[in-house]
Amino acid sequence: MVVMRHIGSFPVSAVGLGCMPLSIENNRGVAQGIRTIHAALDAGCRLLDTAWSYYESGKEPEANERLIRQALSTWKGPRREVLVATKVGHYRNFTDGKPTWAVDGRPETLIREAKQSALALGVDTIDLLYFHRPDPSVPYDESVGALKELVDQGVARMAGVSNASVEQIHQAQGILGSHLVAVQNEYSPVHRSTQDTLLECEKLGLAFVCYSPLGGYRRPVDQSKFDVFKKVAQTHGVSYQRIELAWELAQGSHVITIPGAHRPETILDSLKASDITLSADELTELNRG
Ligand SMILES: NC(=O)c1ccc[n+]([C@@H]2O[C@H](COP(=O)([O-])OP(=O)(O)OC[C@H]3O[C@@H](n4cnc5c(N)ncnc54)[C@H](OP(=O)(O)O)[C@@H]3O)[C@@H](O)[C@H]2O)c1
Repeated sequence: MVVMRHIGSFPVSAVGLGCMPLSIENNRGVAQGIRTIHAALDAGCRLLDTAWSYYESGKEPEANERLIRQALSTWKGPRREVLVATKVGHYRNFTDGKPTWAVDGRPETLIREAKQSALALGVDTIDLLYFHRPDPSVPYDESVGALKELVDQGVARMAGVSNASVEQIHQAQGILGSHLVAVQNEYSPVHRSTQDTLLECEKLGLAFVCYSPLGGYRRPVDQSKFDVFKKVAQTHGVSYQRIELAWELAQGSHVITIPGAHRPETILDSLKASDITLSADELTELNRG
């Protein structure tokens, strides 16, 4: 059974599906994407994570949002139970011929992209809209101010910030008040430096959503960081990825994790992470890293 937690007052599965791999470079096509999303939803996943910028460099934006719309419209289950979170403020580019990610946090860009995201998702109101990443050339208050405007206009119901420091979370809460419900930051066994933001979110009553929770699949990571997770996984007789996700969820009841997947098999395994109870000794060992 998938354990439920909350983003704002909306119940979501503690493990959501990070949909990015389904539409960026090296995706496996629309049919496989829909199969993966349907498998996740059928197994009880109630949180899909997407972004305006989840498309292949040089191709059409909103590809991932359109994929999600297609998957939800052909799914036989209860659509209203599923929270779809999207993000604005990033776009795809090329650097030396290689696909890259760039930022544009100007208010007019965020407002335009959010309206396009709503259209692509086929909704009047986006469930949860994040500001994807601070743009060093735009004052943070101005970018977050655009999110406030979008909530006030009814384009988004709830707001979040991503890749945010403790200071920026406070700034965002000052502007958005109770409309700010979530912070999405990188957090995994190989990326623990955002622990301060995870703890701050608990104090502020915000959901903390761990992205790239397995270390991400797009860049090489120090594999030795997984050794202790592999050891604990052997005791439980499960994949070490499931232990990684269970360890993240054990950081607090406000924590939600969104592993990515190209295939039904991997998300189905990940969704079982919330069933795992780690002992106090195991947690101490995993926390030590
Ligand atoms: N806010 C931001 O700036 C930001 C940045 C990056 C990512 N994100 C979000 O975070 C999500 C997840 O991050 P990510 O996709 O970069 O990386 P990730 O979740 O750390 O890793 C995904 C990789 O792990 C594999 N995997 C997943 N579950 C597994 C399991 N149970 N057993 C074995 N392997 C498993 C997948 O395999 P297969 O490919 O074989 O299925 C995939 O290759 C993204 O999809 C996106 O929604 C947000």
